[in-house]
Amino acid sequence: MAKVLKVAAVTELPPGSMKTFDIEGKLILIANVDGVFYAMDAICSHEEWDLSEGMLEGTHVTCAGHGAVWDLRTGKAEFDEELQPLKTYKTILKDGEVLIELE
Ligand code: FES
Repeated sequence: MAKVLKVAAVTELPPGSMKTFDIEGKLILIANVDGVFYAMDAICSHEEWDLSEGMLEGTHVTCAGHGAVWDLRTGKAEFDEELQPLKTYKTILKDGEVLIELE
């Protein structure tokens, strides 16, 4: 059964911002895209940069390391070599908190 965990208060992540959280030992990036929250593993599968150091534009995050462009909706990257996709998670908004569903 899926495990639902509280991550942050909605006010901690204004629209256009993203942050990495340690959730039970997993580093997960949470991004607020115009009020829609996305969650994806935070560590780039290229050379392990933290994606929260990159740039958020719409539903895409550009890695500060070498410029891979990650799609928060799919966990896939556009890059000049194929990168292992990152896991995405379902987010839930409840009582002013952002929750995510872990399997
Ligand atoms: S570490 Fe992300 S593109 Fe190289």
